[in-house]
Amino acid sequence: MRKFNGKIALVAGASSGIGAATALALAAEGATVAIAARRLRRLDDLARRIRDAGGEALTIEADISDEAQATAMVRRVLERYGQLDMLFNVAGVGVAAPFQNTTTREYREMVDINILGVLYAINAALPAMKRQGSGHIVIVSSGTGRYIHPSVVYSGTKHAVSAMAESLRREIGKDGIRITVIEPGAVRTEFTANMRDDVRLAVEHRLGDMEQLESEDIAAAMLYAVSQPPRVNVNILTLYPTQQA
Ligand SMILES: NC(=O)c1ccc[n+]([C@@H]2O[C@H](COP(=O)([O-])OP(=O)(O)OC[C@H]3O[C@@H](n4cnc5c(N)ncnc54)[C@H](OP(=O)(O)O)[C@@H]3O)[C@@H](O)[C@H]2O)c1
Repeated sequence: MRKFNGKIALVAGASSGIGAATALALAAEGATVAIAARRLRRLDDLARRIRDAGGEALTIEADISDEAQATAMVRRVLERYGQLDMLFNVAGVGVAAPFQNTTTREYREMVDINILGVLYAINAALPAMKRQGSGHIVIVSSGTGRYIHPSVVYSGTKHAVSAMAESLRREIGKDGIRITVIEPGAVRTEFTANMRDDVRLAVEHRLGDMEQLESEDIAAAMLYAVSQPPRVNVNILTLYPTQQA
């Protein structure tokens, strides 16, 4: 008997990195996984891997910074499966740069995806979780969401979701709904590669040849959190590479 047989999970931001690893890990433990992001081809490839391994996956093309798309993403899962047990808010973007080297367009993108995108998905999922009397929401924040960090706006968006998660925990726990925040340090994904060239080079220089975390390390932490008995709410898990200063 695998841990999540009969459970339905939605991973928002599953087309690469931490989200993809999380979807694979959930499916390996028997969960049916809905995988969402903007890059449908990547999702199709991931769904094929999940199905080839005997799992079930539903792909959903969605830009979570758009309220209608984020809402439709959750609705699609509920229409297809009639329940939503776990919502993983993994999607995020970052320009890890000082305030004066971040454009207003970049601020908006980070706020729209890292804060509003997370809130839209939670807003859409909560009524169903309340009806069920159970549910687990996981948010991938960041180590920069807990400690003051020079990447001002990115760090600010992650502080925002970490803070809101703790308030929300106090609001929804009585309904049997749990919420967990994951705060990773540097993880080896496409995240840095997607940054503007000058920012990417600065981040790569800062990280040097330090051994970073792998996406699977973060997925394992999330699976730990959602595997606990219903009475246990794992609030925050912070994971750093051993060598990260
Ligand atoms: N890597 C690190 O060092 C690190 C450290 C701390 C925290 N984090 C956090 O970890 C999370 C995952 O990042 P990662 O490292 O796995 O990087 P990644 O490989 O770049 O993954 C980011 C994911 O977010 C999705 N995404 C971005 N914008 C989206 C949107 N508007 N709508 C839907 N999906 C969207 C991307 O898919 P599409 O582009 O296909 O939409 C992709 O699946 C992020 O929240 C990030 O802030 C990363």
